Amino acid sequence: MRRARLAVLVSGRGTNLQAILDATRDPDYPAEVVVVVSDRPDAYALERARRVGVPAHVVLWSKDPEESGRRLAQVLEAHGAEWVCLAGFLRILDPRFVERYRGRILNIHPSLLPAFGGKGMYGERVHQAVLASGARESGCTVHFVTAEVDAGPVVAQARVPVLPGDTVETLAARVAEQEHRLYPEAIRRVVTGQVRFDDLVAEQRR
Ligand code: GRF
Repeated sequence: MRRARLAVLVSGRGTNLQAILDATRDPDYPAEVVVVVSDRPDAYALERARRVGVPAHVVLWSKDPEESGRRLAQVLEAHGAEWVCLAGFLRILDPRFVERYRGRILNIHPSLLPAFGGKGMYGERVHQAVLASGARESGCTVHFVTAEVDAGPVVAQARVPVLPGDTVETLAARVAEQEHRLYPEAIRRVVTGQVRFDDLVAEQRR
């Protein structure tokens, strides 16, 4: 079986990266991680990659988004990456980069998009907003990345209840558990062609 070549982009602790790396240990999993890239040299996720012998690179973000995107693409190309998985990557990708990898970039977001998404909605802020809204349910979403933040077609979602007495920490932990299950499964569906970007875009337009 030919395995799809993934680049994973990270900025932080990398528990989603870990879930993906764990999934790829199964020889029947249809993808492998060929490179991990962080915009932050101190991201613990880099350590997780190095531990299992996956090349780990830092691409520092400059004020020029186009140039940053070009440098990122150079690293991905050097490793023959075909798909790009954002896993807690906190930079907004330049539209030219997004176009270059059109339909081949995925992101995971810790809410049921379109609810609690968009610019500035990341990390704890998402769970804070969910709790403040009184919503009885939350979850996570894997979606294709398009130029508009958190608005690309949805590949898969998982739901969790919001429980009485939940704090940001307890809700985040419940959602994270689902993220770690959902992301490897969503990657499988996309790289095997079970879910296609163009089909989802056509559906959105209908
Ligand atoms: C996750 O909650 C993910 O949904 C969001 O950023 C967080 C990353 O966590 N995009 P980790 O670095 O994978 O542990």
